[in-house]
Amino acid sequence: MWNMTKRTRVIWLAREADVGIFAIREAAEIINHGGLVAFPTETVYGLGADATNSDAVRRIFEAKGRPATNPVIVHVADLAMARSCIEGEWPKNAERLASRFWPGPLTLVLPRSKRVPGIVSAGRETVGIRVPDHRVARALIAAAGVPIAAPSANRSTGISPTKAEHVLKDLDGRIDLLLDAGPTMVGIESTVLDLSGEHPRILRPGMIGVDELEAVLNAPVAFKDVGKGHAEGEGFGSPGQMALHYAPRTATECRAIERVSEEPGEEPVGLVVLGHPGLIVTWSAAEKVDLTSPEEAAEGLYAALHRLDEMGLRRIIVIEPPGSPEWTAIADRVRRASR
Ligand code: TXA
Ligand code: MG
Repeated sequence: MWNMTKRTRVIWLAREADVGIFAIREAAEIINHGGLVAFPTETVYGLGADATNSDAVRRIFEAKGRPATNPVIVHVADLAMARSCIEGEWPKNAERLASRFWPGPLTLVLPRSKRVPGIVSAGRETVGIRVPDHRVARALIAAAGVPIAAPSANRSTGISPTKAEHVLKDLDGRIDLLLDAGPTMVGIESTVLDLSGEHPRILRPGMIGVDELEAVLNAPVAFKDVGKGHAEGEGFGSPGQMALHYAPRTATECRAIERVSEEPGEEPVGLVVLGHPGLIVTWSAAEKVDLTSPEEAAEGLYAALHRLDEMGLRRIIVIEPPGSPEWTAIADRVRRASR
């Protein structure tokens, strides 16, 4: 095993190419020796290990405190590497989707090849794969020369990290290296689409929505928006889609817009307003975060929750976004963060 130091080393990847090359080479070496490297993707920071090395992947589960029943996404540099991870022919649907959305925030679930050990997929016959749209992620995979298994770089059930400081908060001392390239751009996790069954179906909504997928596939895509009151094991979400996921430690309430004026009770309160610009709140919030468009909300939601969670407030109230399709993924994350 790679030598585990007490504090995790952090390398800031400035734009200068030289610094980047040395850092990437070192990170790739750690991956190749079975170690753990946290790295940025366009969605959230990932906690990476060599996907072909089951001992290395086991360390991911240990570092996160992740249940062994929750499969991990495999990140690949290109289509050739993606093909090496799947069993049999590369399906026509995968071809169409990959050429339209990769690199990008879309994970495809397909039959798993022997190159990927069972632990990656929690024993399932399938594997979730994607090509991330981030220079650092792709350079790292290419330098390591192996597919990289990476869940989000947070402790299990915590809020996903969109900045290096979020990764350290949860995982300092539990991983070998952290590559810091600043905040991520998309901000919420990829859309997970299952192509292994008879019909394509969304297991986790993301910023690539049903309409876009259907337009490319020219066929219906199943999606069951579990909505409120979703309990573990219900519906056909990903195995990792526990009802309480992505949750701050501070009690967090997801509130319909109609109930915005209800007094929150215990103070001080943090407020996040999603998609209702100019909304007037009659009670006083210690801190208010306004995220107006779906893109802005995706990019800023987790950072806002991380920040409010640090403030030691009695409660965080998130005003639900509008019900239109472009808000589906954000509404999903907000519901899972509340209790
Ligand atoms: O944007 C993302 O997807 C980020 C970045 C790092 O790529 N990763 C991420 O990983 O969010 P994680 O492990 O936090 O979430 C992976 C999701 C889980 O809900 C898991 O159950 C599902 O993908 N998943 C992965 N492989 C699967 C498989 N073979 N079958 C069904 N669901 C799978
Ligand atoms: Mg996660």
